[in-house]
Amino acid sequence: MTAARFIVFEGGEGAGKSTQSAALADYLRARGHEVLCTREPGGTPAAESIRAVLLDPANAGLDDRAEALLFAAARGDHAARVIRPALERGEIVISDRYLDSSVAYQGVARGLGAERVAELSLWATGGLVPDLTIVLDVDPALGLARVVGPDRLESEPLEWHARVRQGFLDIAAAAPDRYLVLDGSRPAEDLAVEIAVAVSALVGDA
Ligand SMILES: Nc1ncnc2c1ncn2[C@@H]1O[C@H](COP(=O)(O)OP(=O)(O)OP(=O)(O)O)[C@@H](O)[C@H]1O
Ligand SMILES: [Mg+2]
Repeated sequence: MTAARFIVFEGGEGAGKSTQSAALADYLRARGHEVLCTREPGGTPAAESIRAVLLDPANAGLDDRAEALLFAAARGDHAARVIRPALERGEIVISDRYLDSSVAYQGVARGLGAERVAELSLWATGGLVPDLTIVLDVDPALGLARVVGPDRLESEPLEWHARVRQGFLDIAAAAPDRYLVLDGSRPAEDLAVEIAVAVSALVGDA
């Protein structure tokens, strides 16, 4: 009964991506769907190793282009070896972050250029884009207050996170039929209901 669909959660630090990914996976599984829940950076052994490099505070000052390439490399492996095979098996794939995180963080906030960074990941993934991306939008001050023990990216200043936030909003505004932007400061249970309704329509459930 499952139709293969690729669903992504995006948003800044502490926006509620992991919470809503897990809630949606539970909801879909309870309705009989095969669901693969994954995350970025990571999702394969090689990509998880790259994640450790990217998030390690010891790598403060990592070159911006090197950072963008590492994210894209991890994504390429993830798309080829986990996401595409699951979609080919007819499963619903839920990813906690994907391509737009690179566009918002490296392209916009680091200033490498949204288009160039998007192209890099499109090349890395062979053009694999989500059917639906849910952007959880929160004021970075609220998101960061929810997160304990900041990692390398979470340690960036508030203005930098504000650019990330605007980056996500601009990406979503450019393709509104493939994005759902939700106010991440709302109660998690309310958000989960709204997301379940939107995804039920997407997967063809009544
Ligand atoms: N809507 C919400 N309202 C209040 N608190 C929330 C909400 N959603 C999640 N939280 C809480 O905020 C914290 C961060 O949530 P979560 O880990 O889901 O965010 P995230 O976007 O995955 O963060 P990160 O960027 O660190 O991975 C958790 O403690 C979670 O329980
Ligand atoms: Mg998370």
